[in-house]
Amino acid sequence: MNQVPAVRVDDVSQVYFPGTANQVRALRHLTLEIAPTEWVAVIGSNGAGKSTLLRTVAGLERPVRGGVELAGRDVTSWPEYRRAGIVARIDQDPGASTAPTLTIEENLAIAAMRGKRRLFRLGVTAARRRAFRDALAVCDLGLEDRLQTPVGNLSGGQRQALGLVMATLNAPQVLLLDEHTAALDPKAAAQVMTLTERQIREHRLATLMVTHNMQHAIDYGDRLVMMHRGQIVLDMRNPAKSQLTVGRLVDRFHEVSGESFSSDRSLLAP
Ligand SMILES: Nc1ncnc2c1ncn2[C@@H]1O[C@H](COP(=O)(O)OP(=O)(O)OP(=O)(O)O)[C@@H](O)[C@H]1O
Ligand SMILES: [Mg+2]
Repeated sequence: MNQVPAVRVDDVSQVYFPGTANQVRALRHLTLEIAPTEWVAVIGSNGAGKSTLLRTVAGLERPVRGGVELAGRDVTSWPEYRRAGIVARIDQDPGASTAPTLTIEENLAIAAMRGKRRLFRLGVTAARRRAFRDALAVCDLGLEDRLQTPVGNLSGGQRQALGLVMATLNAPQVLLLDEHTAALDPKAAAQVMTLTERQIREHRLATLMVTHNMQHAIDYGDRLVMMHRGQIVLDMRNPAKSQLTVGRLVDRFHEVSGESFSSDRSLLAP
């Protein structure tokens, strides 16, 4: 790679309960580089280390070994809040990325302040309201006309859509999605994926997207990474990736891991 990677995970290991009978090696000497604007789908069986990898990039945990660079800067010792101007993250729970008792525009106002050093002010000016309306209009869910609605009144899909708009408000370079459509019904999941693609491409984000949906991993993004027991066991780029089938992917998992694919959530059928 001759450009500075957006994300560089260098020989990272993570161990929980070290030295005890319950020791778990969640990440094992994992190295991964993601180019600017590259979209990587991550799949793998339960406990493979997918969420641990994303939390390590976000700064929610510090690896016992190895380092993390974001846009060429060594951020290994940076806590999460310091990385917030570079990284945005959405997980599976629509309740986690938005505040239910606050209105849509209050949530957006908070998101706009993330990673900035300015004094916190919740006030929403007319100009900001217009900007929020424009940002929400891309969702195509009518949220731009409901700025004063408490977020708790929205459906899971609408909250994840709002989360995606919030995530891109202050121009991060990296987006981390941890099964962000897993709690949604298929129709809402499809809407959120359409918006996900639009936001990633429009804002030119480097993206790590963990998904339980194998077909989404094939259809979306530029590259597919399969994890197993804390390591990357398969790494494919387009066009080879987009020519995969779910059946072929499950077979490949078996070939590289010697085990059957096992996940309580994964959709093995399209
Ligand atoms: N905070 C923690 N404390 C102790 N063990 C943990 C912690 N977080 C994860 N683990 C363990 O580390 C391993 C990797 O977990 P992780 O959540 O990263 O897997 P995953 O690939 O996201 O799995 P899933 O598909 O179930 O979401 C698992 O064995 C898990 O039980
Ligand atoms: Mg997980």
